Amino acid sequence: PAAKPLAGRRAIVTSGPTHEPIDPVRYIANRSSGKQGHAIAAALARLGAEVTLVSGPVSIPDPAGVHAIHVESARDMLDAVTDALPADIAVFVAAVADWRVATSAENKIKKKEGEGPAPLELTENPDILRTIGHHAMRPALVVGFAAETADVISNAQAKLARKGADFIVANDVSPATGIMGGDRNRVRIVSKSGVEDWPDLSKAEVAERLAARIAELVPKMAS
Ligand code: C5P
Repeated sequence: PAAKPLAGRRAIVTSGPTHEPIDPVRYIANRSSGKQGHAIAAALARLGAEVTLVSGPVSIPDPAGVHAIHVESARDMLDAVTDALPADIAVFVAAVADWRVATSAENKIKKKEGEGPAPLELTENPDILRTIGHHAMRPALVVGFAAETADVISNAQAKLARKGADFIVANDVSPATGIMGGDRNRVRIVSKSGVEDWPDLSKAEVAERLAARIAELVPKMAS
């Protein structure tokens, strides 16, 4: 039926930030409310997809009709996404921390009188999108996001090939745009065939349009 074009399709969506522990009470994270990722998971579910939402720590509720898995770190998020394979569709919306502390402390790091702050040695996190984009069980349709504050399009174009995505949803998250944490979003869809500008929309409307686009594309993809 036309109303449920994604019935029988499995989708994975990542959303929210990741938290990378420094010690039991401190962490490194990106700013992310999870609003856009959660809205996309909900929109795909409304079109009939069986959705696994892998979410970092957020303060918004799990959307109705999705199977939500809650994780903290990038490594946990990658494990949860890998466990959710196989899937037909994967949309990577999470603002994953690029780096984590090489060895997080078992106990709270104490401030020492007269000494400077303890240096933090960072190490690179796995790139979840890139891992799944080049995976033996790669979903037929892989969508990435690119939140940038400058050179939005050229950065998104570079990400397409490097990460193995079919398209990238690019947005400018400069503080002046109010997109981060806000309810609206202005995105551009960057694929091999070019750049498509979408108007200023609510995050719910971006999710609806994106889910509709995915529903158009999935039947055409080899699975
Ligand atoms: O490289 P950058 O972080 O800008 O890429 C953004 C895209 O890659 C988003 O789709 C994001 O969810 C995904 N990503 C990821 N794992 C990372 C970093 C980014 O899945 N470690």
